Amino acid sequence: PVIRREDYQPFPWLVPTTQLDFRLGLEATTVTATLQVERNPAAAASRELCLNGDSLTAQSVTVDGAPAEWRMDGPDLIVTLPGEAHSVTIVTRIDPSANTQLMGLYASNGMLCTQCESEGFRRITFFPDRPDVLSTYAVRMEGDANLFPILLCNGNRTNAGENGDGTHWAEWHDPWPKPSYLFALVAGDLVANSKPFVTVSGREVECNVWVRAEDLTRTDHALESLHRSMKWDEDVFGREYDLDLYNIVAVSDFNMGAMENKGLNVFNTKYVLADPDTATDADFDAVEGVIAHEYFHNWSGNRITCRDWFQLSLKEGFTVLRDQLFSQDMRGEAVKRIEDVRILRAAQFPEDSGPLAHPIRPDSYREISNFYTATVYNKGAEVIRMMRSMVGVERFRAGTDLYFDRHDGEAATCEDFIKAIEDGAGIDLAQFRRWYSQAGTPRVTVSQAVEGDTLKLTLKQTVPVTPGQPDKLPMPIPLRVAVHSRGQGALGEEQLIVLTDEEQSFSLPLTGPDPVVSINRGFTAPVVIERALQREDLVFLAAHDDDPFARSEALQELAVSHLVGTASGSLAAGEQAAGEAAIIGAFRSSLADNALDDAMRGELMVLPSETYLFEVMATGDRKADPGAIHTAREGLKAAIGTALADELNALHARASAVTLDDPAGRGARKVKTIALGLIAAADPARAAHLAAAQYDAADNMTDRQGALMVLCGLDGPEREAKLADFYARYRDNALVVDKWFTLQALSLHPDVIAHVRQLAEHPDFTMKNPNRVRSLHMAFAGNPKGFHKADGEGYRMVADVILALDPINPQTAARFVPALGRWRRIEPGRAALMKGELERIMAAGNLSRDTFEQVSRSLEG
Ligand code: ARG
Ligand code: ZN
Repeated sequence: PVIRREDYQPFPWLVPTTQLDFRLGLEATTVTATLQVERNPAAAASRELCLNGDSLTAQSVTVDGAPAEWRMDGPDLIVTLPGEAHSVTIVTRIDPSANTQLMGLYASNGMLCTQCESEGFRRITFFPDRPDVLSTYAVRMEGDANLFPILLCNGNRTNAGENGDGTHWAEWHDPWPKPSYLFALVAGDLVANSKPFVTVSGREVECNVWVRAEDLTRTDHALESLHRSMKWDEDVFGREYDLDLYNIVAVSDFNMGAMENKGLNVFNTKYVLADPDTATDADFDAVEGVIAHEYFHNWSGNRITCRDWFQLSLKEGFTVLRDQLFSQDMRGEAVKRIEDVRILRAAQFPEDSGPLAHPIRPDSYREISNFYTATVYNKGAEVIRMMRSMVGVERFRAGTDLYFDRHDGEAATCEDFIKAIEDGAGIDLAQFRRWYSQAGTPRVTVSQAVEGDTLKLTLKQTVPVTPGQPDKLPMPIPLRVAVHSRGQGALGEEQLIVLTDEEQSFSLPLTGPDPVVSINRGFTAPVVIERALQREDLVFLAAHDDDPFARSEALQELAVSHLVGTASGSLAAGEQAAGEAAIIGAFRSSLADNALDDAMRGELMVLPSETYLFEVMATGDRKADPGAIHTAREGLKAAIGTALADELNALHARASAVTLDDPAGRGARKVKTIALGLIAAADPARAAHLAAAQYDAADNMTDRQGALMVLCGLDGPEREAKLADFYARYRDNALVVDKWFTLQALSLHPDVIAHVRQLAEHPDFTMKNPNRVRSLHMAFAGNPKGFHKADGEGYRMVADVILALDPINPQTAARFVPALGRWRRIEPGRAALMKGELERIMAAGNLSRDTFEQVSRSLEG
């Protein structure tokens, strides 16, 4: 059945308190749930209490201590209640070890843990499993003291004891009313890295990062990141933590990154464990970002939660923005912004232009797990960032203060958030609300004309048609712009303009001859800018723009038009060489520019991703040609590597001399491997030699993985030797073995498909562990060269993965579908093969709701 946003009805019953009693066992856990319920005066009255269930059977149901009148309605349990207020007690028995979906209570590495968002709690006990039913939880857990020496739950531990028969117990109470999706429980053999945090009002919070004993030495970064997040949220958003305890637990089997359960975050080990020997600099950043994200949810998500799952972006979009701003403050604004925009373009733009396009606040779904998307999360963050850009940091803070104040303790809507920003920041967002209801990435075409001493800038917007949304209205598009003068080398003042109409002109002051417009600086709006800028203007911006983001954009624009032009064979003979020369020139300037630090230099040296190039190539009636894009992009890499061989070798040598703990080390490690990749495209033998040396000299994972990545794309003895060394060295560390799978699945090697097939048979491979599945198969699906192999073997392999994984873990299986779903924008030969695989999946029948929804939408849309 399809669930619709417009059908929202409040739940007829309130559940002020919930008592849960767990008798824990890996194969059998008994749950006794007692719900105090009373009629909800704000809802239509009903004699029936509908409690959601998923694969549960009730052992007993009693009301006020007496046998009750109840029945099953599909997976749900319906209790008939005679009066206004009752106590309902239900006993269920579950088998955590058989729970391969990893939703609800499951076993991971000998421990028990939970994942309840969105609808996992109903796999533990029957309950109104919807985010607008807030309840205060008291939990008693009991189990074998040897298997489960540590017993954790939400809130505060109120009591604990031994039973004298080898079992022990603990009681927990969470004073903050919460929806069921924020419930969590963990039982296992864990140790903690602990350090108290003193809040702004002087309260001491015990902070623990719980892991298996052998991982303890890799937890400092997570704990420090938590402290930095707690401080930052006080300073920047005025948010203080509200319990005396904050627990983070790392588990190895997890469908997503992490979960913000009240006072007890459960994390994928990937986003907790980090030390220089096993984690890259990017891994360190990801740990910091996810720790912050989950911590920030305590206010944007937990204290104020969502009324229904259509409002998911209320907490996710806002929390992603908050974690992005935090990381900008920790690591530097420009580099973080460039990375975030790269992610948006690679992951969200294709979603917005494909069959699965949906607004940040969707209107309908079959399976909510399918809407934990780059649109809801990342575009959601961009939409709120636009509000912030339009009103400025201070007024935005006034808006968020009002939001937190007004809706604390509530299950709110996106509309509530918008209204609070309107009232608190003093801005009219009437038209802006369209960003919440319209899907599709707006395109803004730019034209300019000099009129006296001003520049007339004419902007025209179109919001593309998306599935179910044939007619679109113009949206307010805030753009930071500046008009520079190439003739005089003068830089213009930045100002913010807001395009509200379909077509609109703006008069901007000129700074001198040959005006060059720098537009959407800092990426103020998540749109595609279309304009025909002269090559020398882009070169000028790439070298001189005072906004570092705009600088990197100019280089991207230069490369995109060159690569798409090359791939579609639309460039005139001279254009091809001139474009290449301009890009090489821009790279040469970045390499020589001493004012740049290596972190920024590295960003300027990253070519646009193939996925993004497909997006640009597939405009109008033109389809993307993955083969031609790949050839063009590798060709450009080779041309850069050849023309700048000396500079790149010098850069590699300079960067190799920087030591691990040098503050400039991170940037140096970044450019080192980028240089190696460019050298490899031009001179594989030299690159193999350099990469092997980099691998051998490495005292950190960033350098070692970077070297191995380059070697993986090359043939020869170094490749095999270093792969074998890497495996032997790290075979006991699952997260590093994941890297070993990923490097081979992502490689540019011509036999990548054969390699992936072999790796799927490796003794360390298992479909049961999502990190492992992602490390091999998701990585492969993101390898354009392998996945889009012209004979369709890559598509077939991914379709086989979906079919094999669906019965085990439907949520993860469904995440592979979008890769095949993009067939409509690909050239006809490959498109037919991709579509054929989707049809084969559909024909297999017996699909999960998750996979069925994604495949059927991909075939219809
Ligand atoms: N709320 C979590 C986060 O963004 C993600 C939970 C995902 N759950 C799911 N069923 N897809 O931090
Ligand atoms: Zn989140």
